[in-house]
Amino acid sequence: MTFDLTKRPRRLRRSGFLREIVAEHSVSVNDFIIPLFVQDGTGVEIEIPSMPGYHKRSLDLTIEHVKQLRDYGLKAVLLFVQVSDGLKDNAGVEALNKLGLMQRAVEAIKLAVPELIVFTDVALDPYSKFGHDGIVKEGHIENDSTVEVLAKMALSHANAGVDFVAPSDMMDGRVAAIRSGLDAGGFQHVGIMSYSAKYASCFYGPFRDALDSSPGFGDKKTYQMNPANSLEGVKEALIDIEEGADIVMVKPGMPYLDVALRLKEASEVPVASYQVSGEYAMIKAAAARGWIDEEAAILESLIGFKRAGVDLIATYFGLDYAKIMKR
Ligand code: PBG
Repeated sequence: MTFDLTKRPRRLRRSGFLREIVAEHSVSVNDFIIPLFVQDGTGVEIEIPSMPGYHKRSLDLTIEHVKQLRDYGLKAVLLFVQVSDGLKDNAGVEALNKLGLMQRAVEAIKLAVPELIVFTDVALDPYSKFGHDGIVKEGHIENDSTVEVLAKMALSHANAGVDFVAPSDMMDGRVAAIRSGLDAGGFQHVGIMSYSAKYASCFYGPFRDALDSSPGFGDKKTYQMNPANSLEGVKEALIDIEEGADIVMVKPGMPYLDVALRLKEASEVPVASYQVSGEYAMIKAAAARGWIDEEAAILESLIGFKRAGVDLIATYFGLDYAKIMKR
């Protein structure tokens, strides 16, 4: 029996070459921002238990690692530091230390690989004795006093040579304050990638293990967004763009691709999305049990971001992707 079908979508799927020439989206190493965890010491490389295959490194080994990233065609990194407990307080003093680990890391990386685009996380949680992204007063996270410190922190990263600061704290008004601080300091060229729609998510768990930065009391729901909201994400992003954000970000990634697509449609700036530590851990854990094919899961998850209109993907799989493509 034959049917009289004029439209047969399967015609475009008959061979590999054909599928490739009609593919709507593609991923490349140019899409990635690679998060890096830097810690004190020398010669230190520690695998993060809840992120198998991903490491924290001292600065010397971070330098070796970024050279390898560059050699694989990767172009951007996002820096996080682990701060020792003795340096944590409720004011972010260490965050402003010119000779702090973050500042030294930025300087050393830009010296070793000047063309690499360096982003820094700007938030107080790694420096906070309460593990919160802001200054704590009577059990509340204060907005405006936190914003003042964040603006100084961004300026200190700019002094160290950063290309983009990435405020991830979700305080109101921080993009404007950071922008005016940078401009006043003569850093008109330093950009801001704002974590505009950052959700209060359980998927940050492995990251908080890695940096020992879990909130000491309560949770982050008074500043990070409610996972039930999407229009609010658009509102946040539009405010940030008004305030001077060059790139807006949605975080986490895979559970929030709808929000990324909405931001893409609502704005003219590049949209980034962060495939966070818990998303990495889920893929790694399932693959380790033989429940999913790791390589296929990496590729399928990354193309999902592109389909959702994401321009830049912050992902722990960037080097894996580059290695897969080089084979
Ligand atoms: C800190 C920050 C977090 C992440 C990036 N910046 C954790 C948090 O907000 O608690 C999470 C990244 C990840 O899980 O991969 N402001």
